[in-house]
Amino acid sequence: MKDITVAIDGFSSTGKSTIAKQLAKKLEYVYVDSGAMYRAVTLYAMQHQLISNTFFYKDKLISVLDIISLKFKFNTDLGFAEIYLNDINVEKEIRNIEVSEFVSKVAEISEVRRKLVEQQQQFGTNKRVVMDGRDIGTVVFPNAELKIFMNASAKKRAQRRFEELTKRGDKVTFDEILKNIEYRDYIDSTRKDSPLIKANDAIEIDNSEMTIDEQFEKIYTIVINKINSLK
Ligand code: CDP
Repeated sequence: MKDITVAIDGFSSTGKSTIAKQLAKKLEYVYVDSGAMYRAVTLYAMQHQLISNTFFYKDKLISVLDIISLKFKFNTDLGFAEIYLNDINVEKEIRNIEVSEFVSKVAEISEVRRKLVEQQQQFGTNKRVVMDGRDIGTVVFPNAELKIFMNASAKKRAQRRFEELTKRGDKVTFDEILKNIEYRDYIDSTRKDSPLIKANDAIEIDNSEMTIDEQFEKIYTIVINKINSLK
């Protein structure tokens, strides 16, 4: 089987990471959650009082980017790689609603993007990678053999994220999740640097009415057909 790169982009909470993890497992590829990297930089900014509801010291954040180390380490129990910020596992913390509130502001900064995109491209030098995010098919891997663009109604997406966070014990309301999703979608798609847009050659999937299994079946078939067509 030919080795390929799979780029999965789309709006917030469209199930990108669910399908990306499943595909990576099945194909024995590496899964990279690019959003986790933006979230980890945001967490760093929060921990160092560089961002809050009332201030954002962008220049200071840019000046410390070199000392922010991001690593992924595979967790065999979970079956995917967890993210480490300066050698501390922050996989759970970065999913908090507080981080979600600031992440799109941090992700607008070109210097942040440049650093993270460079690292993301290194993960893909040998192909055999499934990466999800906002600009994977457009900026990180514009030559990816397969690009998927995920979408679903905002309400469905908010419902899914609400269930995910309440299940793990976070105290959140449906309304604040919905508001956060709509807010991030807006910033992510209108920012100047690498906005979220569907690549011309991406296949769009709306999974509003699909179960996780149905979605996997559909996308896995697309992947296999693509690999076979490249033989
Ligand atoms: O899981 P969810 O779809 O809600 O978000 P995520 O993938 O964890 O990404 C969090 C945020 O990081 C997004 O809302 C974007 O602002 C930013 N991001 C980005 O700008 N570029 C990427 N390749 C991935 C994420």
